[in-house]
Amino acid sequence: MCGIVAYIGPREAYPVLIKGLHRLEYRGYDSAGICLLNDDIRIFKCKGKVSDLEDYVAGKNTSGTIGMAHTRWATHGEPNTINAHPHFSQNRTIALIHNGIIENYMVLRSELKNRGYIFTSETDTEVLVHLIEDIMISEQVAVEDAVRIALNQVIGAYAIVILARDSPDKIIAARKGSPMVLGIGKGEFFVASDATPLIEYTDNVVYLNDEEIAIIERGKDLKIKTIRNQSHTPYIQKLALSLNEIEKGGFEHFMLKEIYEQPRSIFDSMRGRLHIDQGNVTLGGIRDYEQKILNAKRIIITACGTSWHAGLVGEYLIEDLARIPVEVEYSSEFRYRNPVLNEDDVVIAISQSGETADTLAAIDLAKSKGATVLGICNVVGSSIARATHAGVYTHAGPEIGVASTKAFTAQVAVLTLLGLLIAQKKGTIPNSRFQKILLELDSIPAKVERILQLNDKIRDIATIYKDVKNSLYLGRGYNFPVALEGALKLKEISYIHAEGYPAAEMKHGPIALIDEHMPVLFIATRRGIYEKVISNIEEVKARKGKIIAIVTEGDESVKNLADHCIEIPDTEEMLIPLLATIPLQLLSYHIAVMRNCNVDQPRNLAKSVTVE
Ligand code: F6R
Repeated sequence: MCGIVAYIGPREAYPVLIKGLHRLEYRGYDSAGICLLNDDIRIFKCKGKVSDLEDYVAGKNTSGTIGMAHTRWATHGEPNTINAHPHFSQNRTIALIHNGIIENYMVLRSELKNRGYIFTSETDTEVLVHLIEDIMISEQVAVEDAVRIALNQVIGAYAIVILARDSPDKIIAARKGSPMVLGIGKGEFFVASDATPLIEYTDNVVYLNDEEIAIIERGKDLKIKTIRNQSHTPYIQKLALSLNEIEKGGFEHFMLKEIYEQPRSIFDSMRGRLHIDQGNVTLGGIRDYEQKILNAKRIIITACGTSWHAGLVGEYLIEDLARIPVEVEYSSEFRYRNPVLNEDDVVIAISQSGETADTLAAIDLAKSKGATVLGICNVVGSSIARATHAGVYTHAGPEIGVASTKAFTAQVAVLTLLGLLIAQKKGTIPNSRFQKILLELDSIPAKVERILQLNDKIRDIATIYKDVKNSLYLGRGYNFPVALEGALKLKEISYIHAEGYPAAEMKHGPIALIDEHMPVLFIATRRGIYEKVISNIEEVKARKGKIIAIVTEGDESVKNLADHCIEIPDTEEMLIPLLATIPLQLLSYHIAVMRNCNVDQPRNLAKSVTVE
């Protein structure tokens, strides 16, 4: 949550910062602000999006070759101009931007108030900037030392950048818990929440570790110190990200582009791992932990939101294929509920961003109890990827639309590979069946391609249902997580209330909601307990609910009952989530567009949830 970007070098900072903010806007879009430094230190900020900031700044003095900028997702204090970042210190000599939460800000605030500091905002962030100034004055130290001393008093998560009027050629940046990457160009440096603002300038990056402070000075080498004043040598890595991966490429929205990328992203998530010729699966990232997984008494999957839904598919898959008990936990619950965990457990943390605060905390907890913790992450070099013992990248490419689409299918594809790998090694599946599933998995990208051709038909269905107030999504077996995911997609981008349920659970409550105004979306593919799902459809039909059904190509039984059918290719039951999710993503997308919702940046949401 919140995006930060900073620049120092020979270029004018303003265009670099604004472009960077646009790239990071998916992280929060309540308010935005910028700080530029040359003879004086200037802050421009306003409520609203980055484009509002651009309008506000138009015609003002934006010169300067050093600066920083912020796009906010509000935690403490409403989204308004005063609470927007950057924040000035009392004497206006220091400015600061922050992503994260200062948990002990109340204590620090009252101490600073007692020392005469006047707070202008309601944010937790403002304590940091006053504290740094207070230390500089009272201890007569340089800004980087004041930052270090201040951070030793802070409890919470932060990625911060500080500019000081009296150090016009210096940027100080630090992180703990919130992400931060430094870009190193020729005579210039970049700081950002992720690598997207810097890819067109450099591919040399340093991922700052927790409790590290970067001292970035014009014309000098990058210096890194810990908050305990130990020097670290910067570890420079090559960035594997290209510009066209983070642009819309002719699509109206990132979400649509990402939906359409799925044949490729699913393929990429399996590339070099699914070996049809050799009839096996390899997952290089977890090879050293294979034995541990094979011996695991149980597997615990922990994640949030859409990634949790992928985890649920993973539970069905791994139990089905590999016969190891699997539990799926919301990270936010798991981390606080004193779970029984021990060294025989394997915990798998799933996260697109690799930055989700609750999932990171769940990982720490699992590690502290001696469990082996593996990650399934999309963002290379992210905090979760680094916090886990080992892991598998999903390789779906950058996902910029706030609603997760291609990351979900890539997560499910990787979980399928994992289930197959364990099953083959444990011998819990006959080889003929294993090979059949392998072949079928290989054909999934082409089948997704065929489903995408149904876009016009799905748009027509969206036209009919775009004004409904409520909806139900029902599925059974592997299609239950699909129902949950379909409902989440609809509610988060179109603001229509949608609930996902196991279809048979409907009788235990939700059926009371059904009348002629209630659309009910069934995932009723012809595998598993298909006949039972048909009975559930009958029950809705008898109560005059409107039925939209995702069915297998050629299905006749459901067609006779449903108001609308979307036909998808047949596949193995366990692979259906990879296909059935696609029309649900498209349906949500079209409904949201027709309702004039901001599809890529839905209200109140942010892509990367770095606060709990
Ligand atoms: C929904 C969505 C969220 C995320 C959740 C976890 O479309 O994107 O529910 O899935 O915030 O995020 P990650 O996967 O980054 O840990």
